[in-house]
Order: sequence, then structure tokens, then C-alpha cells
Amino acid sequence: MTTTFTTIQQLRATLQPLRQQQKIALVPTMGNLHAGHIELVKRAKAQADIVVVSIFVNPTQFGVGEDLDSYPRTLSVDTEKLVEVGADYIFAPSVAEMYPVMPPPTQVLAGAISQQLCGNSRPTHFDGVGLVVSKLFNIVQPDIAVFGQKDYQQLAIIRQLVRDLSYDIDIIGAPIVRAEDGLALSSRNQYLSAAERAIAPALHREVNRLATQLAQGEHLVASNEPEQLSMTQLQALIDETIARINATGFKVDYLEVKNQDLTEIADTTELATTTDLVIITAAWLGNARLLDNQEVSVAPKLR
Ligand code: PAF
Repeated sequence: MTTTFTTIQQLRATLQPLRQQQKIALVPTMGNLHAGHIELVKRAKAQADIVVVSIFVNPTQFGVGEDLDSYPRTLSVDTEKLVEVGADYIFAPSVAEMYPVMPPPTQVLAGAISQQLCGNSRPTHFDGVGLVVSKLFNIVQPDIAVFGQKDYQQLAIIRQLVRDLSYDIDIIGAPIVRAEDGLALSSRNQYLSAAERAIAPALHREVNRLATQLAQGEHLVASNEPEQLSMTQLQALIDETIARINATGFKVDYLEVKNQDLTEIADTTELATTTDLVIITAAWLGNARLLDNQEVSVAPKLR
């Protein structure tokens, strides 16, 4: 049975007697659930006894002029999906329940990791995410929490939050769920027109092409370059990828290759010794700002 609570007090009172014996998982969402969210819930069910799904369109993570008002709110359809997948509790609070004072005077600052990538165009976004996720962690006190890897920067920030604020919570990152044509599932995909939806898989296709180039060193073989990829060559590959994506009709906000903890690759020497990198991008297509990413290992030497 799936029970919905709208108040912190009701949810806490229900979970309190259960937590001694049972493992609790939290899946934080903003609702408008798609197959990607349902995968998160399935992961949570596989690893815990009780699954709490929060549905809250969090105003503190939206900037001025962003889509807070138009963000789709679909609680009854979401509830049906969560009943079907077997979530135990839905927590769907009002804004007043979560934030008795707006804007909330207490802040969670995510620091340098949040002032790059999506943070360049959304400078306060991750502080808002950090605040609401901290509150959800304090309210639910889960043993584990499941987040999607599509929001790669968000996941890195949440891992940092758990480390820095000493939350005793295992953070599980769940792989991106894609449509058959490769488009990463996202609530914002519904902002795409039919014509844009047909273009949208180009983002993943080009990120994947870059990942293959880096992993196999094909680009360097073709141009008889020296054995090790240099930072300049890496940047040239990135620029070509951005140009190809833009040529399809997207407008790339950023596309970068970073260490998987989202620190910069310092130089060619580090590039030569690092194996765990991530290609991470955000791009506008019409009114939709789409995210994608792919972890990759650069070929240490060419074949
Ligand atoms: O990823 C999301 O849907 C949101 O950023 C989250 C983690 C639920 C916080 O509002």
C-alpha cells in the first residue's frame, strides 16, 4: 500500500517506529515522474525495506525567470505510478510546510563545485538543491538515498554535502535511463516540439562519439599525432563536438571534459595519468535545456 503524507510531522511519526528494524530509502523528486524516476524507485526497493518518494517542486532551486511556475505538477498521475511500482510512502509537502519563511534565511552553500558547468548559468541553483536535500534528509533520516546520474553535477554536490555535513546516508547514483533513440529521459523533454524531439538524440550521439574518440584515440591515429592526447588536442575535439551539436539546432550552454569529481584536468601530464573522466554537457533546444553526460577513460596510449 502507498500512503501519501503532506506534513513533516505525519511522516516522521510513521517512520519513527519502523526505523529500528527496517532500512529506509529516500528517492527525492520534483514529480512529473517518468521511467527514469521509476528506475530510481526500483533501485531503492531492491536495497531497502521501506521506500519514501518525495514530490516537491522546490522554489529555492529555481532562479528568476526560470520555469518554476510552469514546471509540470502531476501529483495524481505520479501517485498512480508510485502505487504501481510499490513505493511505500509519498511525501508531497506544500511550500509553506517546507519553508515556513520564504526566502529561507538559513542557507546551504555548495561552494566551488557549484560555481561551474550548470552553475555558470544557474548561480543559485545548487544552493537551493543543497538546502532542500538537507531538509529531506533531516525529515526522512533515510539509510540510503537514490539520485539519477543524469544530474551528474547535482550528484557530486550531494556526495559533498553528505561528506561535509556528516550525514550517515549511502548515496546511490543510478545510471541514466534513455529513450530508444538515446535521449536521456527528463521531465523537461516535454517542452520539446515534435520537430525538436526528432533532433534531440543528437546530443547523446555526439557525446558518445567524443567518448569513443577519447577511449580509442582514433582521432590521433588518423592525424598521426604523438602517442598521448594533449590538452590542446582534447580542446579541439571538444570544440568540434560543440560545433556538430550546434549544427543540428541545439545551442550548447557548455560541454566540458573533467575529472569525475568535477575538478579540472590540470594539464597534459594529468590527462596522461587520469583514467576516470566525464564528458558533461547542457544544451538548449527551443525552450528546453537538456543535460547529458558520459563517463569515459582516455586511451592511455594509442594502439
Ligand atoms: O533532481 C531533482 O529532481 C531535484 O533537484 C531534487 C534532487 C529532487 C531536489 O529538489
